[in-house]
Amino acid sequence: MTTLDLPAAPRAADRLPHYDRVQRAFHWSMAAVIIAAMLIGLYCAYQPPGQATRRFLLEWHKSLGMTALVLVVLRIAYRVAVAAPPYAERMSRLNHAAAAGAHLGLYALMLLMPLTGYWNSAAGGYSLPFFWLFQWPRVLPIDKASSRVGEELHLWGAWAIYAVVGVHVAAVAWHHLVKRDSVLSRMLPGIR
Ligand code: HEM
Ligand code: HEM
Repeated sequence: MTTLDLPAAPRAADRLPHYDRVQRAFHWSMAAVIIAAMLIGLYCAYQPPGQATRRFLLEWHKSLGMTALVLVVLRIAYRVAVAAPPYAERMSRLNHAAAAGAHLGLYALMLLMPLTGYWNSAAGGYSLPFFWLFQWPRVLPIDKASSRVGEELHLWGAWAIYAVVGVHVAAVAWHHLVKRDSVLSRMLPGIR
């Protein structure tokens, strides 16, 4: 085999546009943390208050939620500095607007959920753990009425995040399995 028979190495210009390494790391680590927090939160919602397993799982839930808060602040700063890549295929204005709206909604909920969770626990005088390593500072005065407002917003936000994440994952599956375009590959390492 001569060197002429060797397949050409992929050039950067041949790759489909995709989110950079840092954006992908933020996306997949946060997707895992948030889905885990949502599943634990949902399970705890069906356990009686004060029950030992619920208390234990809520420590995990709060720790994962506070991890998401730290990550989303860094992620938003990075996203402001580095734009999303262009789409490889032509897409209707409606499709662009729907994707932008859903992404904005996801960013809003990624902030709202940990902030209202923190509000509920901090104002309620409950624990604010980070994986049994330390407690987060309580920056709100203990006030049960205020805690209930945080709780109510957290519970409404839970419905919103179930819906928006559900639509987001369904939309990606539709692009990949029905339209067979390159939307999923935007969030994967660059492929030709
Ligand atoms: C990305 C972050 C978060 C997500 C997605 C999330 C999601 C959820 C969900 C889905 C539930 C169950 C709601 C229900 O159906 O009843 C829940 C409950 C709860 N979450 Fe979070 N949460 C997050 C962060 C936090 C944080 C940071 C804290 C506290 C520091 C927290 C404290 C709680 C508590 C105490 C409950 C139980 C509320 C109750 O049953 O009254 N969450 N959360
Ligand atoms: C297994 C589940 C998931 C899959 C397969 C997935 C896949 C994707 C893909 C392919 C994109 C690029 C879409 C485009 O360019 O139009 C994307 C973007 C995005 N995803 Fe997900 N995702 C998942 C879960 C999540 C979760 C749980 C969240 C947060 C709660 C999330 C938040 C986002 C955000 C905010 C963007 C926009 C990123 C930006 O433009 O900065 N994703 N996702």
